[in-house]
Amino acid sequence: MDRPNKPAALSATGGKPDPQAQVTISQASSLVTAVLPTGDSVEVLLYGATVVSWKDASGQEKLFVSTAAKTDGSKPVRGGIPLVFPVFGAPPKDHATAKLPQHGFARNSRWEFLGKAGDGESESGSVKLDFGLSSGQLDQAWKDKWPYDFGLVYSVTLSPGKLATSLVVSNEGEEAFECQVLMHTYFRVNVGFKFLFPASSSALSFTLDCLTNLIALQQDIADTKVTGLDSASYIDKMDGAKVKTQAAGGISLSALTDCVYTPDTPPSDPIAIVEGGKTTLSISRDNMADVVVWNPWEEGAKGMGDFEPKDGWKNMICVEAGSVRSWTKLERGDVWEGAQTMTAS
Ligand code: BG6
Repeated sequence: MDRPNKPAALSATGGKPDPQAQVTISQASSLVTAVLPTGDSVEVLLYGATVVSWKDASGQEKLFVSTAAKTDGSKPVRGGIPLVFPVFGAPPKDHATAKLPQHGFARNSRWEFLGKAGDGESESGSVKLDFGLSSGQLDQAWKDKWPYDFGLVYSVTLSPGKLATSLVVSNEGEEAFECQVLMHTYFRVNVGFKFLFPASSSALSFTLDCLTNLIALQQDIADTKVTGLDSASYIDKMDGAKVKTQAAGGISLSALTDCVYTPDTPPSDPIAIVEGGKTTLSISRDNMADVVVWNPWEEGAKGMGDFEPKDGWKNMICVEAGSVRSWTKLERGDVWEGAQTMTAS
């Protein structure tokens, strides 16, 4: 992301030199960046506490962010990891969230940077950034639409080759409330090339054809599969919310896809993104029963003003860990926590 303002470097350990990570706040205090000595980095926008970049040590970006995404707080960021709370999708008309927009208000609100975790609180060689949003900080317009007292603490932990995000939701009021949570992660897919070899009649002509006609194409969504959801029950939002069972062999996308999976395997069993036959990323979950798989495809991308480039759908897939198929009810004083860990390979 561009940084119009000179970053103010923060020591990650309150004044002492930190051999582990450099944490910076820039862009008029709206973007928090952490860089590990290995070169792995993460950027989190305070607007929505949206992770807008995650790069590995080689500088390779793991997340997709639309080049037309708004990062000025005028609308949720199209890409990265927007946080969905307290409702997933369009709110039901007869529910306490009914007046909220699709996916709630967490991704539309400015969060507070609570700081870097103290020594001993995060793994050695990693850095944990904490962000907070509570009813006290919420714009009055949101409070009018959802008048509950809540506290959210969102932690983003960067380790070499790994990014973990966890959300703690607490009910700080007298009244019980119901909520849904989703980490709406847009993964970038396009890391490699596939080679097309011409069909040839003999070994000699094959060799000559290869030398003259070898075609290298960049991989995209057509070469991508999501594995780990075989035999899971899912709601197909593109087919009248029918409940279906995922066939074996992984999920390949060939059209606009919007499905809510509830695997019966343990959440710690990874779900993987496989590109050109190679696992590039795996996602494990903690206390989040559901996984949304979404790609807007050509027609969906056309309909979104903030989705650019228009063929960007070929280079992204949303695999979204959450707790969305039912409601989590929190009584006064109750606390809920859910997390995902994404590992690059
Ligand atoms: C997904 C939903 O999580 O988010 C889709 O399942 C939705 O139905 C998509 O279209 C994008 O939502 P939005 O509000 O960011 O355009």
